[in-house]
Amino acid sequence: MLKTYLSILILTLSVLIYGCGKKEGQTTNNKTAPKSNIELVKQGKDLFYAPSSVTNLKCADCHSDGTNDSNPLTKFHSNIRGANKRTETYLGKFKGDEVKNNAGGATVCWTTYLKNKDAMTPEQIASLNAYYESVLWNEEVKNSVYTTIALPAPDKEKLKKDQEEIAKLTGDKAKGEEVFKNACKFCHMDGTKIKSVPSLFRDFEGNLKSITYMTRFGKKYMPFFSYESISNQDIANLSAYIMANQEK
Ligand code: HEC
Ligand code: HEC
Repeated sequence: MLKTYLSILILTLSVLIYGCGKKEGQTTNNKTAPKSNIELVKQGKDLFYAPSSVTNLKCADCHSDGTNDSNPLTKFHSNIRGANKRTETYLGKFKGDEVKNNAGGATVCWTTYLKNKDAMTPEQIASLNAYYESVLWNEEVKNSVYTTIALPAPDKEKLKKDQEEIAKLTGDKAKGEEVFKNACKFCHMDGTKIKSVPSLFRDFEGNLKSITYMTRFGKKYMPFFSYESISNQDIANLSAYIMANQEK
């Protein structure tokens, strides 16, 4: 009798213990993120939308997280969904573990475009990585590597060829105005919130060559544009528009 009770007790206990163990296992399988990860994601999002105190630019001005696509400028640069999982970023400047360790390359943007004096902290990097993953929604984005042109080594030979090729193209002012509105006006307009941006219509001493240079290489926190986002024909059109609208 006692033996039967004991074995029933042991059986019940083991079922209970097994059940509890399984329940815990299921919680992790259900991908309920640990609280710390939720906090990290929130911190990453805050960072993504925080304007720099120096330039007033924020990550979200240039990059899309999938919700801010209404800003046309975000269409011209890589989106950040799953950026930490890419095999390489910034045209091979970052590869393998470096991708994650630099939040996909955000450490470069942090000093180049946001002009922060202090380097990003490991916690800020981890928070951005967590945010990139939280907004990731499909395999295609996860594996996409965006081609960039100015980094790691600005190709001056190619620039010279571009300048010669563009000089031979006929620029279309109306099309140039359209590109300008989408890719440049956000910064290059009267009353812009972005600091230290020169007017391209007043006291502009540049020409087609410098417009090509700036578009392909950028300077300070003027971003550069890849061939995929702005073609040589686009630059010819832009130049025609800018040069035709000089305020003399
Ligand atoms: C003024 C525009 C600008 C701002 C602001 C900016 N970036 Fe970038 N970012 C670029 C450009 C230009 C590149 C290189 C070309 C590209 O990838 O589109 C780049 C590249 C990246 C990449 C690499 C993408 C890839 O797959 O190669 C990541 C990730 C990134 N930025 C994240 C950020 C984060 C996070 C912030 C805010 C801390 C930020 N960026 C701020 C312009 C900007
Ligand atoms: C994120 C803001 C931003 C965007 C977007 C932007 N620029 Fe700029 N641009 C700047 C800043 C800042 C400078 C000044 C760089 C410096 O310090 O010399 C500049 C400078 C220039 C200059 C040199 C002006 C001069 O008087 O020397 C040209 C040309 C130019 N940009 C063209 C463009 C074109 C064309 C586009 C769009 C395809 C564009 N920019 C988009 C911020 C921007």
